[in-house]
Formats: sequence, C-alpha cells, structure tokens
Amino acid sequence: MNTITTFTMIKPDAVRAGHIGAILDDIIKAGFKLVAIKYMQLNQDTAGIFYQVHKERPFFKDLVTFMSSGPIVAAVLEKENAVEDFRKLIGATDPSKAEPGTIRAKYASSIQENAVHGSDSNENADIEASFFFSGLERHPDFL
Ligand code: TYD
Repeated sequence: MNTITTFTMIKPDAVRAGHIGAILDDIIKAGFKLVAIKYMQLNQDTAGIFYQVHKERPFFKDLVTFMSSGPIVAAVLEKENAVEDFRKLIGATDPSKAEPGTIRAKYASSIQENAVHGSDSNENADIEASFFFSGLERHPDFL
C-alpha cells in the first residue's frame, strides 16, 4: 500500500531568510495536503531527541545547536507516496548536489543549513509526526 503521510520541518535558516511562504507554496503546488502545522522553537534537548539517530556522528552537536537557534515550522503532509515524493521535492542533503528546482537547491546554503527536513521512511514519518503533533492537532481524514 502506498503511504500517504510524511513529516517536514522548515529549518531555522529558511525561516530566518523569510522563505516560509515560498517553501509552503512549493509543497502545496507539488500536490501535498497540509494536515497539521505549527510555528515553534526546539531547544537543545528536543532537537537532540529528534536527531538521536545521529548522536554519535561528528556533526551532531553543531546540528542540535543550529536546529535550536531559532523558530521552525513543523508540518504533517499527505499525498500518495508521500515519503518518497517529498524526498524528491526537497533534493539531496547537500544542496550543492541537489537537483535544480528542488527546495534545497533553491533555498539551502550548506549541508547543515539545508532549509528543510523530510522523513526518510514510513516508520520515521509516523514517529516524527507523533513527536510534534497530538491527534487533536491533526486534521482527521474522515472530515
Ligand atoms: P541525514 O539524515 O543524513 O539527511 P536528510 O536530512 O537529508 O535526511 O542528516 C540529517 C541532518 O543532519 C541533515 O539534514 C543535516 C545534518 N547533517 C550535517 O550537518 N552534516 C552532515 O555531514 C550530514 C550528513 C548531515
């Protein structure tokens, strides 16, 4: 069965640069439906939990500092094949390797400050969406 849900964040670099509107516009024009959204700031602890899979990597400390350095926009998106299609829309982790036209090619400045997050599997999409949003904060499918 095709997955229909993924999770995204617009990261502090893109928020600071004023790209929230343009990035949401790209996401919606690519056929994703917003089912939950919030504007908030992570702290060192919550950013560390979100990226705990990378805690042994050399970039972890800097990543956590960056991700808690300013507000982010967190959102849950729906579309057929959402996880894979969203990864295509955002492009490679390193923006210098991202396909032209992708969100990271357009708005990211470095491998760390790469504008957006997109879940890399169905399982992680569910874990990440649940970390940020309660059931009450998500638009129910049956409405
Ligand atoms: P990763 O899960 O490899 O990439 P993606 O976000 O494309 O799924 O890495 C998570 C984040 O960690 C990445 O978006 C930016 C940061 N990062 C660095 O700061 N330096 C690095 O060398 C790598 C690989 C990632």
